[in-house]
Amino acid sequence: MDSRIPDPISSASEGQSPPVPDDSLRNRLGQDDLARLGALLDLPADQVTFSALFTRYAESYDAVVGTNSQYRRLQQEVADILQGCSAVADIGCGTGNQTILLAKKGIHVDGYDSNEEMLKKAELKVQQEGLEHLVDLHLADASCFTLPPNRYDGAAMLNVLYALDDPYHALDQAYRALKKDGILVVSGPKPDQDVRILTSGLLAELLQTGRLQDRQQDLQIVSMVNQLLDANIKNHFSTERMKRILLEYVGFSDVLAADTLPGKEVYMKQAFLLAVKKGIVYAGLPMDDLVIRQALPEELPSLYRFRYHYLNERKGHTPPFYRHPLTDADAFDEHAYHLIASHHGKLLGTMRLVEDSPRDKLPADAFYPLDHYRQQGARIIEPGRWIRMPYVRAGVGLKLLFEAFRFSRAKGATHWVQILEADEYDLYKKIGVPMDTPLTVSVNGIERQAYLEIVDLENPPRFLRRAL
Ligand SMILES: C[S@@+](CC[C@H](N)C(=O)[O-])C[C@H]1O[C@@H](n2cnc3c(N)ncnc32)[C@H](O)[C@@H]1O
Repeated sequence: MDSRIPDPISSASEGQSPPVPDDSLRNRLGQDDLARLGALLDLPADQVTFSALFTRYAESYDAVVGTNSQYRRLQQEVADILQGCSAVADIGCGTGNQTILLAKKGIHVDGYDSNEEMLKKAELKVQQEGLEHLVDLHLADASCFTLPPNRYDGAAMLNVLYALDDPYHALDQAYRALKKDGILVVSGPKPDQDVRILTSGLLAELLQTGRLQDRQQDLQIVSMVNQLLDANIKNHFSTERMKRILLEYVGFSDVLAADTLPGKEVYMKQAFLLAVKKGIVYAGLPMDDLVIRQALPEELPSLYRFRYHYLNERKGHTPPFYRHPLTDADAFDEHAYHLIASHHGKLLGTMRLVEDSPRDKLPADAFYPLDHYRQQGARIIEPGRWIRMPYVRAGVGLKLLFEAFRFSRAKGATHWVQILEADEYDLYKKIGVPMDTPLTVSVNGIERQAYLEIVDLENPPRFLRRAL
């Protein structure tokens, strides 16, 4: 392998122990399918692995998909959108078709992909085209990689988001890696994608161009992998949903192109396409440009949707108490104050302050009885749902916290009470919050270590005094 592609980090590459056998495919497929795939790959069924499949798929992909006119039109459209760029990140670059198309325009391209076989193929093609000086390929998992900040004026994520464990991480990284006014182009299968349409589209074109005879086996491999991928797809996005995610939940500001525009059919109508611009750099936004205030009643539905996005879609929390689809509102919200951090109406963060009520009491009461404090005259507020979007600077969270502190005192609260989980311990300890009462809490039937935090608002810890 070319030295520019770093070795995968595995125990084998460290020379410690043999590689872990790739059983995942064997566990997913029945014997018949394995035998069928084995015949296509020229391998006995017990040697059919994802890696073997991808080695072959990389070949077949270029022979069948890479030559397809609809696929090429999509690639051309993406290249046109990124036309004026000087440096582009091609995330999930695969065999490098888009990478090469862009490099041929004189653009420097960093290709990122988690599959070594795809990258090997891309590397070979880059060499054949004599584009080594413009292309760097990186073995990287887009669900957890870190891209250099402020590096590119363009980024492409074509047909890759659907496969990622954490698509939001990849989108956040793309946003962070773009310079101001940088463009991201995203495309992928629509929720109602029908792989049979893709296969018959590919077949029809091979027939028409007289290449079916030579490409029959490649078509079978591509069609089988498409079916496999479709059955194991992790994320499906419609154009509208992706647009919302990019504009509301990742920092992009403008839509430059979309498949919903007239005459824009993408990849046999099975894929969406969006190009968006990073018109505002939220990480560098002056704090004075941020508004922190109480949410208006009419803003609450979108605030609950925002919280649900962060807690559920990003973090995977699925508390059983969600009462409405796609919102995380619960009974405590009815007697809570909601603070929001926003910039020109775009929600960047929030915190809720639940006021004690004789009927519902506080969320923390479920884990630790607080009556003892009430009997001593404490007027308690429970802060929570403290959220700051990852693409915004960290100071926004602190600014929200300080505002919440001042606000709670103004409302006559004497104490903050909160149950914090172990993963928040370090952060809170660092900023001086007392978390001295360890508890075991049960959430969704799973027991977890937590801490009871009680903050005396009249005699606050040092870090909060800065807010006064
Ligand atoms: C269908 S191909 C698309 C390739 C290329 N973007 C194109 O349009 O031709 C999907 C690519 O995503 C890559 N991929 C899948 N999961 C990935 C991950 N977690 N990180 C980076 N790349 C990933 C696969 O290895 C594969 O090369």
